[in-house]
Amino acid sequence: MEAKLLSTDPTTLAVLTLFALLAFTSGFQQKAMDKLLNFDRLVLSSAVGPESLAFDHLGGGPYTGVSDGRIVKWQGQGLGWADFAVHSKYRERVCHGSNDSMLESICGRPLGLQFYKATGDLYVADAYFGLLVVAPNGGVATQLATGADGQPFNLANGLDVDQETGVVYFTDSSTRFRRRDYILAVIMGDATGRLMNYDPKAKKVTVLIRGLAFPNGLAISNDTTFLLIAETGTCRVLKYWLQGPRNGTFEVFAELPGYPDNIKRNPGGEFWVALNQDKVQLNGQTASDFGKTGEPSEHHPVALRLSQEGKVLEVLERRAATSVSEVEERNGTMWLGSVDMPYVGVYTL
Ligand SMILES: *[C@@H]1O[C@H](CO)[C@@H](O)[C@H](O)[C@H]1NC(C)=O
Ligand SMILES: *[C@@H]1O[C@H](CO)[C@@H](O)[C@H](O)[C@H]1NC(C)=O
Ligand SMILES: *[C@@H]1O[C@H](CO)[C@@H](O)[C@H](O)[C@H]1NC(C)=O
Ligand SMILES: *[C@@H]1O[C@H](CO)[C@@H](O)[C@H](O)[C@H]1NC(C)=O
Repeated sequence: MEAKLLSTDPTTLAVLTLFALLAFTSGFQQKAMDKLLNFDRLVLSSAVGPESLAFDHLGGGPYTGVSDGRIVKWQGQGLGWADFAVHSKYRERVCHGSNDSMLESICGRPLGLQFYKATGDLYVADAYFGLLVVAPNGGVATQLATGADGQPFNLANGLDVDQETGVVYFTDSSTRFRRRDYILAVIMGDATGRLMNYDPKAKKVTVLIRGLAFPNGLAISNDTTFLLIAETGTCRVLKYWLQGPRNGTFEVFAELPGYPDNIKRNPGGEFWVALNQDKVQLNGQTASDFGKTGEPSEHHPVALRLSQEGKVLEVLERRAATSVSEVEERNGTMWLGSVDMPYVGVYTL
């Protein structure tokens, strides 16, 4: 199959890759079902896909956005999940409990979330409604921005807040593909994504990088000197400088064995990068040592812990969900988000 791929045209290649990805995904799910290990599931009462997680300044949560457009809050065992916030266009009758991706453009799809601890505000990147903010007590979100430089946001995705300045950094993964078509965006090599920031004092969005190949999650370093961006389309993590002589420039931070989704800083200042899929072999490139295309190996990485220098410190293997979109480490507990599972996974270290 590799040899054939080498000599086919780009469209055929894309279609073949799509089949490889789909075959891989279904095989992977079957395997993972056999191997579910000892993690707890915080099962959502309705809807699915807790893609990103955030905790408030009191340690409450996690909060997460789900498939029907709501942001919900975990209140602990016994109390379970409670509604926290919705977009102003959210329509209860149409949206509540939906996992239909065709309804996302009506109901919204909150992805990246982060609190600004100084005010308690929750910032949200909604794939369909752009940049939102929710007051500390929840309720109806306020829309802060829907585009930048005359280009509407099309797939707002990853988000983090600089806790020193209150500036919000976020990605718009593609100007051409909607969220429900993200696999196509990746295999077609779409490179229309952007990194932006929003300054709450000036109420202004600034485009920082253009032409990225599906920029996804992002995380600011513990000393706020740089931020990392998961570039899904290239299986890389990029480092964008926020201070110092290289301020405003970026470089490659790490090459990954799979397609990265979200990236989160841990309490030690290191980073957890969640991988949605193994890297597909294209143009005869060899797969990494971590896993092989098509037939998922026993050692399938779902997340990597990276040092501040981009070195792989730990590989989290298929211990948990079929697709892990985020790994958040807090006080000895690991929280696992997923774009399609009906629960948040959790286990203690
Ligand atoms: C999505 O919703 C349908 C019907 O509402 C249900 O049958 C299906 O199991 C749900 N899918 C997931 C992944 O929960
Ligand atoms: C970094 O550069 C940005 C413009 O790209 C500027 O607004 C900011 O003040 C600079 N930060 C520092 C710490 O120099
Ligand atoms: C950030 O993390 C690094 C690496 O763990 C650590 O050495 C450093 O002290 C941390 N800095 C701050 C400001 O927390
Ligand atoms: C961290 O976990 C320990 C043990 O579970 C608990 O006693 C402590 O209160 C937790 N600390 C925070 C800040 O949550």
